[in-house]
Amino acid sequence: MAARAPKVVCLPGDGVGPEVMLEATRVLQALGIGFEEHPFGGAAIDSWGRPLPQPTLEACRSADAVLVGAVGGAQWDGLPERPEQGLIRLRKELEVYANLRPAVGDGVDLLIVRELIGGLYYGGSGELPDGRVFDTMVYTRPEIERVARRAFELARTRGGALLSVDKANVLETSRLWRRVVTELAADYPDVELKHGLVDSVAMNIVMRPADFDVLVMENMFGDILSDVAAGVTGGLGLAASASLGDSSPGIFEPVHGTAPDIAGTGRANPTAMLRSVAMALEHGLAEPTKARALEAAVAAALAEAPTPDLGGAATTREFGDAVLSNLQVPVS
Ligand code: NAD
Ligand code: IPM
Ligand code: MN
Repeated sequence: MAARAPKVVCLPGDGVGPEVMLEATRVLQALGIGFEEHPFGGAAIDSWGRPLPQPTLEACRSADAVLVGAVGGAQWDGLPERPEQGLIRLRKELEVYANLRPAVGDGVDLLIVRELIGGLYYGGSGELPDGRVFDTMVYTRPEIERVARRAFELARTRGGALLSVDKANVLETSRLWRRVVTELAADYPDVELKHGLVDSVAMNIVMRPADFDVLVMENMFGDILSDVAAGVTGGLGLAASASLGDSSPGIFEPVHGTAPDIAGTGRANPTAMLRSVAMALEHGLAEPTKARALEAAVAAALAEAPTPDLGGAATTREFGDAVLSNLQVPVS
């Protein structure tokens, strides 16, 4: 019986999202992988009135992997349901609790494991009659356990060390985080667990990025530290991510946003998007050979045709051309 063809759902979104997604779809075509596109983010607000239309969500649920460009822009900032809210909902709907954000380059090879569907983004917010506004940070033990287990398992496949990042000197959620991670360490005697406070870890990533291997942390700490880690390895144009659950399709997206300052100019670096496609090939489509081939082609293109963020002059399309000309499609 022939295996069902893998289905990749592409959500280009806004700003440079569609520009980098175009290069991703050219690569998917070259690799013989089927895909379909659906409206998402600000583009979906314009055409459907909401950032995550029901048909888009249903297509994502039945996909093998979901690729996201980026969402958001000033023109939608005042709306009650912003484009970013669509992304936050999609992550929750697919229950992708573990967000893997590698930062690689210049002797640095670290992996941030960011808890993705809890904490401040999901704890509830509002406005009180007296005008005060609030966002709530909430964590449960099972929410911490499942992402910490993922991080321990990843640490095992790398250097055998795990740094858990928190703010346990101030926050109750962090004290629970530290207790749960410490308890779990008994199940992973081969992994050396350390704890660090988020403020000093942020400084050390800037000062000594090569000292880090696998880090695990709550949602917003991971949002911020993954941009810091991207910054010490060449910028947001390079930083990819994979968001994984237990059985749902993963979401694969660049760490960067819609880059309104360069959108429409052909200056966007599609590396972050293409490396996210490589993570989708590895984690979503069980195609590790194709993942390695794409990573190698991206490395060759970075040497041959760097984009302006890396000091080069190649356009998004020219970089994509260099990737395609270096891509050695494995026979499967
Ligand atoms: P941003 O990541 O869009 O841009 C920050 C800086 O990095 C800009 O100078 C930009 O030009 C540069 N940059 C980003 N991606 C690049 C690329 N591929 N190549 C070259 N340079 C690149 O962050 P921002 O400006 O703070 O946010 C803009 C919008 O994006 C906001 O609406 C924000 O909410 C949204 N956003 C979305 C996502 C997402 O969809 N996953 C992530 C972050 C921000
Ligand atoms: C990211 C982005 C998102 C986040 C926003 C756009 C909701 O900054 O993926 O890093 O904060 O998670
Ligand atoms: Mn972010």
